[in-house]
Amino acid sequence: MKVHWLTLIAVGVCAVFVVIGFFIGRSIDWPTEEKTKKENSTASWSVKKIVEYLTTGNGTGLGYDWLANITDAFGSRMVGSKALESAIDTVISSLEKQGFDNVHSEPVLQMPYWKRGEEQAVLRKPRLHRMAVLGVGGTVPTKEGGLTAPAVVVRSFEELEKLGRAKVQGSIVVFNQPWKDYGRSAAYRSGANEAVKYGALATLIRSVTSFSVYSPHTGVMGYTNESAKIAAACITVEDAQMLWRMQERGEELEIFVKITSNSLGTTSSRNTVFELKGTEHPEEIVLLSGHFDSWDVGEGAMDDGAGCAVMWQAVTALKNLGRSLTFSQRSSKFDY
Ligand SMILES: *[C@@H]1O[C@H](CO)[C@@H](O)[C@H](O)[C@H]1NC(C)=O
Ligand SMILES: *[C@@H]1O[C@H](CO)[C@@H](O)[C@H](O)[C@H]1NC(C)=O
Ligand SMILES: *[C@@H]1O[C@H](CO)[C@@H](O)[C@H](O)[C@H]1NC(C)=O
Ligand SMILES: *[C@@H]1O[C@H](CO)[C@@H](O)[C@H](O)[C@H]1NC(C)=O
Repeated sequence: MKVHWLTLIAVGVCAVFVVIGFFIGRSIDWPTEEKTKKENSTASWSVKKIVEYLTTGNGTGLGYDWLANITDAFGSRMVGSKALESAIDTVISSLEKQGFDNVHSEPVLQMPYWKRGEEQAVLRKPRLHRMAVLGVGGTVPTKEGGLTAPAVVVRSFEELEKLGRAKVQGSIVVFNQPWKDYGRSAAYRSGANEAVKYGALATLIRSVTSFSVYSPHTGVMGYTNESAKIAAACITVEDAQMLWRMQERGEELEIFVKITSNSLGTTSSRNTVFELKGTEHPEEIVLLSGHFDSWDVGEGAMDDGAGCAVMWQAVTALKNLGRSLTFSQRSSKFDY
């Protein structure tokens, strides 16, 4: 089954939705600094109350606790994992207990299902060095048992093109792209699509990061040619730079790569939806969202557990303070 990896981003990103349909849409009078100076508007007073609640009041640290509870209990939340589904169940039942409106989940079908397996990258020549490595999400496996091949290191797609088939055929291409920015550097995760055109057997990619403590990153890649797929894995910035230096000194590189990670077709998951309904203009919706799924090699605390926690805490703060908040002179009290 052919599902583009972007689907994972589009769908995975929305694993948690929050809809707040309350009245502020039309009547909210967000305080600017100027306005606040001019008048002690009721809106700025309410914002002050929210800030106090979150920074020194009863809301202090709630979002962190929420996140710690989830990451400690479930760990990583890969699409297709039992942990993700159990975490969603737990979040749904706690949202219900909190008394939110319209708490429910919506099925998300046909999500790419990829599972990490065994991953190895070992420098064989000019010296033996077992490298830290992580397959890029979506990669195909290497042939069974892995492969050993000479390696060529390039810093850009232009360098790869210059080397051409004459130098690249039958080798492992190592992308040692210098860090530029996330968008431009992350393009190399899908560099297998370029390398394969010149007959490469596999690709190793310098982790897409501006800072490294010998930590390989994962990420997502997609193939553009269904009949030309080679394995793609990330190595550390440190190793990518070392391989480049070795090549610059004229040394011959030989690397063993073994990846058994593979796509297993598609799977399904759920979006989680909850609402804090307003009374005055319930048809006006402020939508907050974050993605609840995560990579398998961490706990998804930052990406994007923190986003979900911030979102949960924002809505929880409004709910807990609701009856005491007033957003503008033109509107009545915040109510739900
Ligand atoms: C600002 O307005 C609120 C709400 O009316 C009031 O309780 C508070 O005392 C006022 N603060 C100042 C500094 O005037
Ligand atoms: C904080 O919570 C405690 C315990 O529920 C409550 O007694 C107190 O009034 C709350 N403080 C504020 C400022 O709402
Ligand atoms: C985290 O878990 C503890 C223990 O179950 C619970 O008392 C607490 O309310 C939870 N915190 C949040 C913010 O959900
Ligand atoms: C896709 O890969 C196959 C096999 O390597 C190759 O023959 C074909 O030309 C490629 N198609 C495109 C559009 O690059």
